[in-house]
Order: sequence, then C-alpha cells, then structure tokens
Amino acid sequence: MTKSIAIVADRIAWEERQLIEAGPDLGLTVEWINDESLCLGQSDVTALSRFDAILLRSRSYTRGGLIATLAEESGSRVINSARAINLCENKAVLRTALRAANVPVPEFRLVLSRSDFARALKEFAPPVVLKPVYGGMGKRVALIRDADAAHSLYDYVEDLGHAFEQACLVEPFLAGGASTRCLVVGDVLVGVAEFTTGGEDWRNNAALGNLSRAAADDPEVTKIVNGVLDVLGPGIYGIDLFQTSEGYVVNEVNHAPGFRAVAQATGVNVADAIGGYLQEVLS
Ligand SMILES: Nc1ncnc2c1ncn2[C@@H]1O[C@H](COP(=O)(O)OP(=O)(O)OP(=O)(O)O)[C@@H](O)[C@H]1O
Ligand SMILES: [Mg+2]
Repeated sequence: MTKSIAIVADRIAWEERQLIEAGPDLGLTVEWINDESLCLGQSDVTALSRFDAILLRSRSYTRGGLIATLAEESGSRVINSARAINLCENKAVLRTALRAANVPVPEFRLVLSRSDFARALKEFAPPVVLKPVYGGMGKRVALIRDADAAHSLYDYVEDLGHAFEQACLVEPFLAGGASTRCLVVGDVLVGVAEFTTGGEDWRNNAALGNLSRAAADDPEVTKIVNGVLDVLGPGIYGIDLFQTSEGYVVNEVNHAPGFRAVAQATGVNVADAIGGYLQEVLS
C-alpha cells in the first residue's frame, strides 16, 4: 500500500523536489508541508496526523527540534527523531554527547563573554574559528587568522547578538579548511565527499559554492560514523569530519542535510536511498 510522507520544511529546494519526484516509484506519496503552517501543541490529533511519517527538513536551527518534539508527542513517526534533532541543533551539546561516547571532536571552548573569548584566544593561538553554538549554512562562522583582529570582531557578537546568539565556540582552525562530508541514510553510509573552499570564501559550505569530490572508502571514517550513529540512532544525517594529524574528528552533524553536492560528486541516488529507508521504517 502507498504510504504518505510529509516533508516538513521551510521551502521546496532541490532535495525536497528530488524526494517528491522519487516518491511514486517507491510506493510513497510525498507532500511538502510548510513548517510555518502547523500551529502544533494539541497532544492528540495535529495537521500531521494523517501522514504515515514526517520527514523533518526545516533549515532553521530552532524549528526542527520543536516541531519534532510536539509531532512525536501526538503520535507521529518523525525522521529524524526529536532527540537526534535536539542534539544536532546545538553544536556544544552535540560535541559533549559525542565526546562522552568516545567519538573524537575538535577541542573547543564555550565562549559566553569577552573574558571567555580572551582566554580562549590564549589557549588556542590563531588561526582560530569563532562560531555560533546555534548556527547554520556557515553563517557568522569566522576565521581569525591574526590575534589583532579578534576583539573588533567580537564587538559584533557582544553589541549586536541577542541572548542565545551570543553563545559561541572558539576552536583551532583544522584541516586547512577541508571537510569530509558523510551522508548517512538509516544506518548506512551512502556517500562520502571531500568539501573544499570554492576560493571565494574560506568556508566550504555547499551553499557558498564549494568544491566537492568523491572520497575513497576509509575504515576510520566508517568507524567514526558508526560511533555517531550509536549516539544519535539511525536517521538521515550529514556528518562533517575534519582530518587532523591525530585522525578524524566530528565537527558537526546536520540533521536536515543538503545532499546535492554529495549526490553529484559520488553519483549516488540519495533520494532513492531515503525513499527505501522510509519504506523500511514503515513496513
Ligand atoms: N574548526 C574549523 N576548522 C576549519 N574550518 C572550519 C572550522 N569550523 C568551521 N569551519 C569551516 O566553516 C564552515 C561552517 O562551519 P560549521 O560547519 O561548523 O557550521 P555551519 O555550517 O554553519 O553549520 P551547519 O552545517 O549546521 O549549517 C565549515 O564547513 C568549514 O568550512
Ligand atoms: Mg556545516
């Protein structure tokens, strides 16, 4: 029987379109539901109750965990789980959970004040990275190459950041700015690509026009990915690693990953893999 899937997201981008188009061949009807149209809060029936599963792809770093929590309460099957999304949305909490499970993460300092910032700069000599605890799409992630530019940059955090936007991490600049992006569907590592800067911007986010190429199989990558899955449970994730002289570390886990760059670099049909996983979960 055809199963009905709601993609809850802020918009239909390339990924959502691929999933909607792949649906019928996989026995799924896939419908976009605007994440601003739900007004959740009833504990039993909600606007999402008529779907067999909810694929949560809000790009906002505050909506996903809230929607997933309330949708799960009212009985919806939500992918990824509210627990996993809530962990991934907060870079400091996620790293703490991973570290507790012996999954390697970068060294970092939680910076809540200018004095924290000054201490972090002493502990990690530039180049260092300053980034928001809650953030996405590379926004406000800043590379501080020289100590003399650091405090004037921090003025923006202090003067213009509101409440939780002031919570930051400071960490060493790693891997020369390259990332290893691991795309996981269920408990399977379906594709791995190396992301490097496209040259216009130091960051390598796909949204900023990065370069990506397929990466060779590496048992160390598989081991770290499995360690992350032991913490988060199966789901659909973009796990970003940095390669360091001591091995890979997990920078972050994206709970609503873009997959165009990995799909194009590796030739993997990610939408089909996700559709197959949804079928498996619902069977
Ligand atoms: N410690 C670091 N060393 C080197 N490069 C870094 C470091 N931290 C971040 N970057 C660069 O900045 C980019 C954005 O940082 P990060 O992935 O941590 O946040 P984000 O992309 O905004 O979050 P999300 O992926 O959840 O949208 C990374 O893709 C990488 O290119
Ligand atoms: Mg990122």
